[in-house]
Amino acid sequence: MKKSQRISTAIAAMCAAAVMNAGQIKIETNGISMILESESGHTLDLCYFGEKLMNTTEFAHAWHITQPDTGDAYGLQLYPAYGGRFFLNPALKLTHADGVITTELVYESHEQTVIDDNRTATVIRLRDKIYDAHVDLHFLAYNDENVITQSVVFRHNETGNVLVENIASSYITLKARNYYLTHFHGTWAREMQLSEERLTPGVKVIESKKGVRTTQSDNSAFLVSLDEPAQEYSGEIYAGALAWTGNYKMQFEVDEAGLLHIVGGINPFASAVSVAAGEEFATPEMILTYSNCGRSSISHNLHDWTRKYNIAHGNEERPIVLNSWEGAYFDFDEDVITGMIDDAAEFGIEMFVLDDGWFGNKYPRNADNAGLGDWQVNKKKLPHGISYLADYAVSKGLKFGIWMEPEMVNPDSELAHRHPEWIVQSGERDMLPMRNQLLLDLTNPEVQDFVFNAFDGVLNMSPNISYVKWDANRHADNVGSTYLAQNEQNRFWHDYINGLYSVYKRIRAKYPDITIQLCSSGGGRLDFGALKYHDEFWTSDNTNALDRLYIQYGTNIFFPAIATAAHVSTSPNHQTGMMLPLKFRFDVAMMGRLGMEMQPGQLEGAERTFAIEAIKLYKELRPTIQFGDLYRLNSPYDNDGYCSNMYVSKNRGEAVVFAFSTIYHNRTQSYGIKLHGLDPNRHYLLKEVNTMPGDKTYAGDGKVYSGEFLMKAGLSLPLDNAFSSMVFHLVEQ
Ligand code: GLA
Repeated sequence: MKKSQRISTAIAAMCAAAVMNAGQIKIETNGISMILESESGHTLDLCYFGEKLMNTTEFAHAWHITQPDTGDAYGLQLYPAYGGRFFLNPALKLTHADGVITTELVYESHEQTVIDDNRTATVIRLRDKIYDAHVDLHFLAYNDENVITQSVVFRHNETGNVLVENIASSYITLKARNYYLTHFHGTWAREMQLSEERLTPGVKVIESKKGVRTTQSDNSAFLVSLDEPAQEYSGEIYAGALAWTGNYKMQFEVDEAGLLHIVGGINPFASAVSVAAGEEFATPEMILTYSNCGRSSISHNLHDWTRKYNIAHGNEERPIVLNSWEGAYFDFDEDVITGMIDDAAEFGIEMFVLDDGWFGNKYPRNADNAGLGDWQVNKKKLPHGISYLADYAVSKGLKFGIWMEPEMVNPDSELAHRHPEWIVQSGERDMLPMRNQLLLDLTNPEVQDFVFNAFDGVLNMSPNISYVKWDANRHADNVGSTYLAQNEQNRFWHDYINGLYSVYKRIRAKYPDITIQLCSSGGGRLDFGALKYHDEFWTSDNTNALDRLYIQYGTNIFFPAIATAAHVSTSPNHQTGMMLPLKFRFDVAMMGRLGMEMQPGQLEGAERTFAIEAIKLYKELRPTIQFGDLYRLNSPYDNDGYCSNMYVSKNRGEAVVFAFSTIYHNRTQSYGIKLHGLDPNRHYLLKEVNTMPGDKTYAGDGKVYSGEFLMKAGLSLPLDNAFSSMVFHLVEQ
């Protein structure tokens, strides 16, 4: 019997005297069932969430446990508020207009709407037993991608304001012997480090209170594996991520009955919001998925869903980029930039991006201490303006992109002098610079207009600008706003992000075709809320290929390769000082959206030839890497000195395999990897690709193997040296 079936049976057995399921609500995809139970005037309970059920009739009022000291049924409310006998971390905490601090939610009605053949929307209306206070739970089920999103809207008609102190996007209860939580912690240049732990009784919290760059030190994305640590191709795993670019809080509480309650949403920290009668307060969406065959299906679900629904231009190939930052930093003029564009053209690169340093005149941006906010071209560095460079790039067959950090201001800038009241500030307290810069107050509609106009103004500099890198290099501290009323300062966190989203929406309405990179010091804004308006993200400021193996591995569990900007930089690496072979650097970057972050012209001889060929090759492999399914063969976190990933095209006719050695093994050891995702009945021509000129190729190069052989016997690779790597292209014969 499968584990999920065991659990379902156990749950069914726990159903005592089930009311017939007249009030059963099913939220389902092709592979997942979420079964809810309700009756008018009673709580809305979760009966089951997991593998798709064939027959749901037995799953009525499941999980009712009788509390020994009260005799009450301890039903598993789908969205419990603080009130009644509820004693865990609630999904909702209100203070009503008359000062009462408890809420008891009961089911009122629900409706389901088929949006198209892939999506069904469900709205469940709950209300307080006594007060005229209402909670609508919104679900959207995506059949093919097996994703269910959940968000919540609160409204009331009480005589006075209601204080919303805590309002989660979702609340999930699971039952198993053990729960293993995977989350992604980090810091600047070391983001998305995978960490897995067994949850013990009590509460584990993952949160951010940074306001901006909220995913730099931990991400809201999580996996919970039942009974055993998450495996790649087996086991039950639940995954969630909050589509929100601001403060979040995810709580994992193992209660006294051994159930796990996952409460996730915007962080209630210093964020109580007073809601007037008739006003609505809406939460962001929690993105949920489930797999009964391990972590790889979780990734396939989320990658497919992202490409189809949650990223700009998800069905278009991404160009290969040369970004000027590490090659030029602030130190450039027109000749340096046109020289880089010339090199980019020679290397076959498709997009040139001019990074930081191009703006500011009174306060020229020659270092990170001046000019932010003054979005005019620096006439000294670039006397012919941006249009000259953009036209030059286009004349060389490239597209042109440009860097901006429009939410920020240096104290040394015309903007800071003109509008000191636009800067985030907490009364008379010191404003605390970070990277010499301060944060603009996006709760203020005038600032929203400024940010929109800054973007618009830059794009008006040339019709040949087709890409913007949107950076945000600090977080929020000593938070407050001159725009918000004195008694509404707590709205800052929420209104800032909604202000940001409103700017994103205006930009996307006017510029639907522009490519926008989500940067934020690297992975500081890696969330589905912001990603929706962008084409890709700058994965990390750390371009060292060894560190990137870990960062990209963690990142790509949730976010797809097509969006993962990965650039080859120089050696020794500027962040770590580490020296790595050019091939290793290219092989790692080719697992994402390939780019370069250096002066390509510095590459000479065999390295230059290799780089030009690698770029040509990436164009051939790109459809499989960017649109295919990712199969992880060996995690760098296994600490065995190897790492391997493969990408398989949707029709299983093509695959690309990457394999890396990160330590010296020994001459007699070979690296055995069994492939995944191929068709056992088809035959594939194996070619080792991306080799340095003169290097010996793999003994199996040019041979045809069955999918069955490749998956059951696999490849045996002579990867014994530290920082050696191999890439294979498999094409169906
Ligand atoms: C951040 C970004 C970098 C670069 C610099 C420019 O650190 O992540 O890629 O754009 O800012 O100042």
